[in-house]
Amino acid sequence: MKKYFALLLAGVMALSLAACGGSSSAPAAPAETQKEETAAEAPAEETPAAEEAAADIKTVEAGKLHMATNAAFPPYEMISDNGGFEGIDVEIATLIAQKLGLELVVDDMEFGSVITSVQGGKSDIAMAGLTVTEERKQNVDFTESYATGVQVIIVPEGSDIQTVDDLANNKMIGVQDGTTGYIYCSSPVEDGGYGEDHVTSYPNGAMAIEALKGGKVDAVVIDNEPAKAFVQANAGLKILDTEYIVENYAIGISKDNNGLRDAVNNALKELIADGSVKLIVDKYINAEN
Ligand code: ARG
Repeated sequence: MKKYFALLLAGVMALSLAACGGSSSAPAAPAETQKEETAAEAPAEETPAAEEAAADIKTVEAGKLHMATNAAFPPYEMISDNGGFEGIDVEIATLIAQKLGLELVVDDMEFGSVITSVQGGKSDIAMAGLTVTEERKQNVDFTESYATGVQVIIVPEGSDIQTVDDLANNKMIGVQDGTTGYIYCSSPVEDGGYGEDHVTSYPNGAMAIEALKGGKVDAVVIDNEPAKAFVQANAGLKILDTEYIVENYAIGISKDNNGLRDAVNNALKELIADGSVKLIVDKYINAEN
């Protein structure tokens, strides 16, 4: 167990050790549906951030804020029953766009593409439960952190995997491609991981969960909130009660667009300060957790 956490601690991001109790969670409150092009019927309120920003904001498409995400990561981003996008990130991004007088457009893609989409000038922001890491900081600038995540282990009920140590017992681990869970687990044993040979990566968390249910992998390592959502939606799975490491989620923005970066960061800071972010988080994540 220590090995895994030593790796996490030595890892690429600012981390703090945290204990987290259990895996119980109430169903996410039904969210208002976001259309792909979130309607900005009401003109955005002119806040100081918006006024300042509006002058020198350059976005990929005039009047729009394109958000690169992978909408298979509940409760941060997912596809709603009627085919729109919803989730914590989608709602926060909608408010940021409003503050900047822009209309949010969700660009759904594989998680591994969200940073390159911003780097390549196809999307304005990467917002995807995206963990801040030193390596990613080479490629994009990050805003303030607006949420935290922790990597947890999902196993079938009755699994002989009971601790992080047991994962080293010649087990196959399923992860989402390109995520921090993938990076930790696939790193060499001498670096505290389990080695590439013991990891299968899937395009998204739901597919990793299907593989777990089908016995193709022995465990899935994924962020805690999606883990809770997946376990709730799939009988016979559980989250191991083990130690946790906290990661910071933030918004990634092009290194070549300081105007947009500052505007988005200021808008986010205002939304954190006035309690809007907390309201959104509470709506999707039961406060008792
Ligand atoms: N927090 C993890 C990371 O940044 C996983 C994020 C996956 N997000 C998603 N929308 N699929 O690597």
